[in-house]
Amino acid sequence: MPSQHRPRTTRSLRLGLLIAAVIGLATGLFAWHQVRNERAIDLEDVQRRAHALAQQLSDRVLHALTLPDAQARALLQPRLEGYQRLLGYAVFRTDGRLLAAGKAVSDFADKLAGAARAAQQSGGEATQLTRAAGIRIYVFAQVLPVKGTPAGVLVVVHDVSYLDDRALARLAQYAFWVLIVSLLAVALVVGSTWFVYERPLTKLADWMRRLRVENVAESPPPGLPSGRLRSESDRLAASFRAARSTGRALSEAALHAEQVWTPERLRAHALASLGEAHQLIVVSNREPYLHQWRDGRQHAMVPAGGLVTALDPVLRACGGVWIAHGAGNADRASADAEGRLTVPPDDARYTLKRVWLTREEEQGYYYGFSNEGLWPLCHLAHERPVFRVEDWEHYRRANHRFADAVLDEVGKGKAVVLVQDYQLALVPRMLKEARPDLRVGMFWHIPWPNPEAFRICPWDVEILDGMLGADLLGFHLQQYCNNFLDTVDRVLESKLDWDHFAVELRGSRTRVRPFPISVQPWSERHVPADESLARQIAELKTHHQLGNAFIAVGVDRIDYTKGLPERFRAVARLLEKYPQYRGRFTFVELGAPSRTHIPRYREHMDMIEALADEINWKYQSEGWKPIHFLVAQHDAKTVHAFLRMAPMCVVSSLHDGMNLVAKEYVAAQSGGDGVLVLSEFAGAARELADALIVNPYDTEQFAEALRYGLEMAADERRARMQRLFRQVEEHNIYRWAANFLSALAAERTTVDETISTRKIAAS
Ligand code: F6P
Repeated sequence: MPSQHRPRTTRSLRLGLLIAAVIGLATGLFAWHQVRNERAIDLEDVQRRAHALAQQLSDRVLHALTLPDAQARALLQPRLEGYQRLLGYAVFRTDGRLLAAGKAVSDFADKLAGAARAAQQSGGEATQLTRAAGIRIYVFAQVLPVKGTPAGVLVVVHDVSYLDDRALARLAQYAFWVLIVSLLAVALVVGSTWFVYERPLTKLADWMRRLRVENVAESPPPGLPSGRLRSESDRLAASFRAARSTGRALSEAALHAEQVWTPERLRAHALASLGEAHQLIVVSNREPYLHQWRDGRQHAMVPAGGLVTALDPVLRACGGVWIAHGAGNADRASADAEGRLTVPPDDARYTLKRVWLTREEEQGYYYGFSNEGLWPLCHLAHERPVFRVEDWEHYRRANHRFADAVLDEVGKGKAVVLVQDYQLALVPRMLKEARPDLRVGMFWHIPWPNPEAFRICPWDVEILDGMLGADLLGFHLQQYCNNFLDTVDRVLESKLDWDHFAVELRGSRTRVRPFPISVQPWSERHVPADESLARQIAELKTHHQLGNAFIAVGVDRIDYTKGLPERFRAVARLLEKYPQYRGRFTFVELGAPSRTHIPRYREHMDMIEALADEINWKYQSEGWKPIHFLVAQHDAKTVHAFLRMAPMCVVSSLHDGMNLVAKEYVAAQSGGDGVLVLSEFAGAARELADALIVNPYDTEQFAEALRYGLEMAADERRARMQRLFRQVEEHNIYRWAANFLSALAAERTTVDETISTRKIAAS
């Protein structure tokens, strides 16, 4: 959308032009009047001169009139010629005959005869301003009497073309000054409006935006056009801050009052809020279980990534259908003809329906538009997004595929559809266009950038419009909601309701709210505990030759947003600065290869492998190396064992929507006292305040945080971890899902009610 300042500039310019037009018109009229007056004065002057000349000649003419024509002409002829502006004279008898005329006027004697007649009729004088022989002439005719009886008429003719030229020159001069005055008026009006109104009001708008988005505590900007505006702004800011802190306090109190959510409680809640008639459908790109051929047999595996970690327990609890892309090479073989199978493979709780895409479609839609375009667009990791028109076409077509699969699944029934993540931004609108009665929620698992960053996307309007098909749109953080609404404000012609965080577009309304996603308690997963866990840990330590070193662990998809080089450099700096930890501190990175068809990901993998080698080469000693970079798709049991064995976990994302590894680590610490080192740029840092918060770009600070964690007193470790554990336990994934479903149900009810109220009012 164009800048918001533009309409104001145009308005002041329009005002300036209007004022200039009025001034121009008034001074123009005045100038016109002036020119006319001056011309009239000039004419009077000519008349005076003509009169005087007629007087000078009258004796000789009177005498000539008494003579016969030939003698009269001979007497008069030498005196009838003019000079310069006086063109000449003519003399008429009373019967209208021309007696004599100067050379310069004889050509238009008939016109002069008219003036002579007019003078005779008036019994004295007559004047005429007319054109003859291509010039403007002034004719003065005077009757000459002899003893009271008219004896003839003397006509004096002047060339007065110069009067027109003079009037024109004056007009041009006036016009020039009118133009100067008008331009000055425009400049004055535009300049003073900018100084007096626009500049202070723009500052006021910026201040209001900061107040809303960043919750600043500064007072309104100085120089507002009215004292009243200033005092009202002050009051508005105060009540805004008060409402915000009351809301925060109330919601904190309410949350603490509730108990821990369980799968059973979520299931009951889902039934109550959605009603039995609605089936639950989740649609995402990534599938929760993926089948691969290995040694001639199908193997099910759980893909890495927060989306699957979070939503699988929800579907296990509530049942329903999960529609996703079948990306595994044994996916077709492990599903029925319609791409369906029940999952988890060993404990069927819900249906997985796979959507098939061609390799070309997967390349354009998933690797291209989603992960080379939207992914870097939404993450501030200094990676340039790439947008290609053919990728966009695949993205649209693939979104249609997913939407069609959902509509197929719903048939004629009722359903609540939860659309997941940035790969499916167009699906909500597609669903609503086909079935306006569906309840559609969308959750965006990655950050939402500021409007300036998002507007890079050539299809920004289409993406926003697609998402705004949903009834409810969820992000991890309030900050992302704010950014999203700001983006809509800039990009779309829509109605924003900042009080309720809602957008109205094409007759539908979308609520936008934060839902910080979370994890399932480890106690519900079939992972080893007690002695078998101790055995597993011992085996892993032996297998990886970890010895008795203090272990810090990281678990990530290998992605440039995760800050792995920064993490390795902090480990190296720790060992450089505090040599006493060489041989006593080991960092284990469980890295899952991800999106490896994208060159940037392959380069990144090569780079971090080389970096780990370089650091190991520099510091390793017999039987010990500082970094164990274990690249594989690690299963949940292995991840859990590492999280339990490590007294420290490091999450160093450069930007991350939430980062569930941080919460997984805390959830694995039941009764434990591990230390979490967490990037301030991961969404999880907002909730996990007892972690050691670091800026991953600041290697010195990061290395110091590692040292602080290594040396932290047992009491402090325990106290911090207890608070972290309580936070994650209370705000688990079931609570997240329950909050989302309640909000979706509530939002929908409100709209239904509005519609039925309108219908009643209309009938
Ligand atoms: O944390 C969630 C998430 O990052 C998703 O946004 C993403 O879909 C997933 O994890 C992992 O990425 P992919 O599906 O490309 O493997």
